[in-house]
Amino acid sequence: MHENSTPDDTTTTTLYRAAAAAADGPPALRLPFDATGLTETPISTERLVLRPLEASDAPDVFEYQRIPEVLTYVPWPLRERADAYAHTAKRAAARVLAGDGDYFVLAMTLPGTPSVEDGARDRVIGDIMVRVSSAKHAQFELGWIVHPDFQGKGYAREAASAIRDFVFATLHPHRIQAFLDARNDASAALCERLGMRREATILEEQFNDGEWQDTALYGVLRREWAAARG
Ligand SMILES: CC(C)(COP(=O)(O)OP(=O)(O)OC[C@H]1O[C@@H](n2cnc3c(N)ncnc32)[C@H](O)[C@@H]1OP(=O)(O)O)[C@@H](O)C(=O)NCCC(=O)NCCS
Repeated sequence: MHENSTPDDTTTTTLYRAAAAAADGPPALRLPFDATGLTETPISTERLVLRPLEASDAPDVFEYQRIPEVLTYVPWPLRERADAYAHTAKRAAARVLAGDGDYFVLAMTLPGTPSVEDGARDRVIGDIMVRVSSAKHAQFELGWIVHPDFQGKGYAREAASAIRDFVFATLHPHRIQAFLDARNDASAALCERLGMRREATILEEQFNDGEWQDTALYGVLRREWAAARG
């Protein structure tokens, strides 16, 4: 409790939130959903085109997946090219959301910047995963990664805000959350730019790279997202 608050303030806040939550109604996820349709009608932002990841994007994805610093806070091993290509093919094949753990991945393509191996294609500079955390409770999760050459330019924010809006509008989750290594300041800053709130630091939640690591939980409720959009 804040040092200037009284029990009445806390009670009022709790009652207000309970009423607002009740007004939101029960979970109403719109599943199943097949992201393949976004190949024909991708999400366009000011500078990017967001469409389902394809196995043929592997050369571009490898450009960021092979950089150890990029993986510092991502629980992926450093893969050799063949393994990395297989990993991209597996992520690209995940398209249908029907229940817990199902996910799809959207490639962040930058029109006008050629792909590393095929100049006729636009380069994939990063990707964003959309996952069902809980179908029963209408919870979704986002995860992101961007090539260092394209970080610090607002591309992650541009892509993630468009995907957050798409997910809330199309799939109707009650909240969207992100789990990150508690030391990942760049990812935490991105969450805050997206209007997410740090709700918890979960102590020693993962064992990676030979050590117990804390996880930060960020989240935004559907009604908060709607209010911010006016
Ligand atoms: C997490 C990650 C995606 C964040 O990427 P990012 O590029 O820092 O995020 P943004 O797109 O929000 O860019 C913000 C920066 O761009 C700057 N910027 C420049 N031009 C901008 C523009 N037109 N619009 C918005 N921001 C702009 C902002 O000022 C900000 O700079 P700052 O960090 O110095 O304040 C990136 O650090 C990453 O890929 N990390 C490795 C993988 C990883 O850890 N993933 C998360 C696992 S949970």
